[in-house]
Amino acid sequence: MEIRLAKAQDIEAWMSLVEKVRDVFPGLETARAMEEHRAEVLRFMEKASAICAAEAGCMAGILLFSRERSELCFLAVDPDFRRRHIARKMLEHMLPNMDADRDISLITYREGDPKGQAARAFYRSLGFSEGRLLEEFGCPAQEFVLKAAAGKS
Ligand SMILES: CC(C)(COP(=O)(O)OP(=O)(O)OC[C@H]1O[C@@H](n2cnc3c(N)ncnc32)[C@H](O)[C@@H]1OP(=O)(O)O)[C@@H](O)C(=O)NCCC(=O)NCCS
Repeated sequence: MEIRLAKAQDIEAWMSLVEKVRDVFPGLETARAMEEHRAEVLRFMEKASAICAAEAGCMAGILLFSRERSELCFLAVDPDFRRRHIARKMLEHMLPNMDADRDISLITYREGDPKGQAARAFYRSLGFSEGRLLEEFGCPAQEFVLKAAAGKS
């Protein structure tokens, strides 16, 4: 399993994985939303802000981040490849690309939402803590934050 930056030529394999997991991501319900997401992924790839876990041309994991906003924007691992530390390795690959003096934030599901059980456990295990309650795409959501000092340890 290789953890690396994804490039435009990876887009088909990348989107195959998005297709597999789209039911847990609010905002990807329609064909049009998927088209817009694909265009957005290509912009992240151009900015060297898309990380993948790739094996034999297949994507086992995908991660988008924003250096400017100090945000983890999208993270998913293929259900057949979970609990093999693939998400953790992608996140570790992201960290040196971020400003070490800034907190890193993300938005995920709220406590009690079964879709968010794995994600919340994952972020807690990596040292993220719960932040503000908010909404995303009209769905209840919560910010998680990795404090700058915790990220360095
Ligand atoms: C959340 C997700 C990315 C985790 O990917 P993963 O590769 O399975 O995670 P890792 O193997 O790196 O997990 C690292 C640690 O996180 C914790 N963890 C991960 N999944 C967990 C789960 N289902 N239950 C409890 N703890 C979990 C564990 O502490 C794990 O370490 P361990 O296996 O040694 O106990 C994956 O479950 C996923 O894609 N879920 C659907 C999409 C999603 O929720 N994305 C995030 C939206 S914000």
